Amino acid sequence: MEKKPHFVRREFLPREVSSISLALLLVAVLLLNALLYLYLNKFYSSSGRGETDPSLCPFGYFKLGTVKNCSPWLSCEAINREVRKLKRVGEGAVKKVFLSEWKENKVVLSQLTNPELKEDFLHGLKMLKALQSKHVVRLLGYCEQQFTILTEYHPLGSLRGLNETLHIPRYKGMNTWHRRLMLAIDYVSIIRYLHSSPLGTLVMCDSNDLDKVLSQYLLTSDFHVLVNDLDALPLVNRSAGRLVKCGHRELRGDFVAPEQRWPYGEEVPFEDDLMPPYDEKTDIWKIPDVSNFFLGHVEGSDIVRLHLFDIHAACKKKDPAERPSAQEVLDTYRKVLTLLIRETAMPGIREML
Ligand SMILES: Nc1ncnc2c1ncn2[C@@H]1O[C@H](COP(=O)(O)OP(=O)(O)OP(=O)(O)O)[C@@H](O)[C@H]1O
Ligand SMILES: *[C@@H]1O[C@H](CO)[C@@H](O)[C@H](O)[C@H]1NC(C)=O
Ligand SMILES: *[C@@H]1O[C@H](CO)[C@@H](O)[C@H](O)[C@H]1NC(C)=O
Repeated sequence: MEKKPHFVRREFLPREVSSISLALLLVAVLLLNALLYLYLNKFYSSSGRGETDPSLCPFGYFKLGTVKNCSPWLSCEAINREVRKLKRVGEGAVKKVFLSEWKENKVVLSQLTNPELKEDFLHGLKMLKALQSKHVVRLLGYCEQQFTILTEYHPLGSLRGLNETLHIPRYKGMNTWHRRLMLAIDYVSIIRYLHSSPLGTLVMCDSNDLDKVLSQYLLTSDFHVLVNDLDALPLVNRSAGRLVKCGHRELRGDFVAPEQRWPYGEEVPFEDDLMPPYDEKTDIWKIPDVSNFFLGHVEGSDIVRLHLFDIHAACKKKDPAERPSAQEVLDTYRKVLTLLIRETAMPGIREML
């Protein structure tokens, strides 16, 4: 009776074998961690473009495809001479967008549609120039006199088409929680970039509903997100006490942040002058809804949602000051991605250790 426990232990866990296999297991875990670290590092800096320098060209220059040298942004003359319109691929309130050809490259020529929106168009162009980075669609040229902008073409179009794209056989392999979470990370990285941009804290105002948000971003062929439309990006200056308003009309609905809605009730008619301004935390309020769209309904996306529950609840705080910064949301998203990759790469490892 007394000896039995000892016997049982020896039989199932011979000391030498167990310590060898434990050591092997630890080595394997460390190796996998190292590989994971290298892998994650690789894709965080993968697109090969720096934060401030989109194609490693100086300001005013661009590089396309496999070409070695940087070319200066195309001027009015160069655009008129060398760019050929092929077909219309999009139209918004401000611009008509044409797939075009420039020296055997597919490019996009955007033209002002409504002369009343000149200001928005020029603001968008100014932002496009100033914010060229890995987060922003590449500028190839512009002509202010003719209100045209030339940018890189992305055949997958805006994020509005993500659902359809993910059902094309060629892209079905991308329809995983992992890829979808990476898109959400790209999106939050862009918001983080805009909130701490070289120009200061910019608010993404073209975002009164989900469809509107999605149409401002492009999906690249290597499945990253770029911001494309920078026509409505007012500047918050906290030290100067300067806040913003997204347009002059009344905003309604749950998609916009509570502080963007008319605060004085139905009895008082809306008046722009009486509407209080707000800050970049309106973008944070919208993150959970946009991320939910990204995550969709695939195997594993509900587990991701579960891990994002707390940070998303914080994004939906009524008081804007209590919402996290875009950087904090981004850090959490990245942590969740790392954690979930580790768990799927080594299921059950946590229980074993
Ligand atoms: N570089 C591009 N590659 C592929 N498609 C593009 C590109 N640029 C724009 N598009 C398409 O054209 C649409 C309209 O473009 P854009 O948002 O610039 O126009 P807009 O008039 O400023 O729109 P809005 O009404 O939101 O202000 C986009 O949603 C996208 O579908
Ligand atoms: C914010 O306002 C202050 C004071 O007016 C000014 O000095 C500063 O340059 C402004 N910052 C930005 C980013 O515009
Ligand atoms: C995309 O698909 C999801 C279901 O997978 C659906 O809930 C959502 O409404 C769709 N969105 C769009 C913009 O088509």
